[in-house]
Amino acid sequence: MRIDYNEVQKVIAALCDGETDEVALMATVACELHHSDGRFDWTGFYRVTEPELLKIGPYQGGHGCLVIPFSRGVCGAAARTGEVQLVDDVEEFAGHIACSTSTRSEVVLPVYNGAGRLLGVLDIDSDQPNAFTQSDVDGLKAILESVFGALQE
Ligand code: SME
Repeated sequence: MRIDYNEVQKVIAALCDGETDEVALMATVACELHHSDGRFDWTGFYRVTEPELLKIGPYQGGHGCLVIPFSRGVCGAAARTGEVQLVDDVEEFAGHIACSTSTRSEVVLPVYNGAGRLLGVLDIDSDQPNAFTQSDVDGLKAILESVFGALQE
């Protein structure tokens, strides 16, 4: 099953209409994404809870690390640089945090609110190598902007 990003974006918009709680929104986005694509084996958020620190947020899949400093892993790199991390082979990524040995590739996007504050990152892991492409990045970015860009501080 392959995700139709436009369709999922519409479903998420309908489900999240009027909601402004960050965690409720993250839980809904993680759930809808996770069940829309067979490549997604772990789908969830890490939230900025202290300076330079990510803590696990709403997710679907097996358990993840609870805490990731900005200095570590793919999620830390996305939070630190503000840039999307598209990793075709996690074994080639220095400092990758292996929470599940089955993970082969992943995509991590920074998540900002409408005021430009970094709320956290969206992490999607796949058991398949080279699972993600730029079109996933584009589709995911559009969803994140529509949901979290509406939040002001
Ligand atoms: N892929 C992450 C960590 C995986 S999770 O804990 C689900 C990283 O290296 O940042």
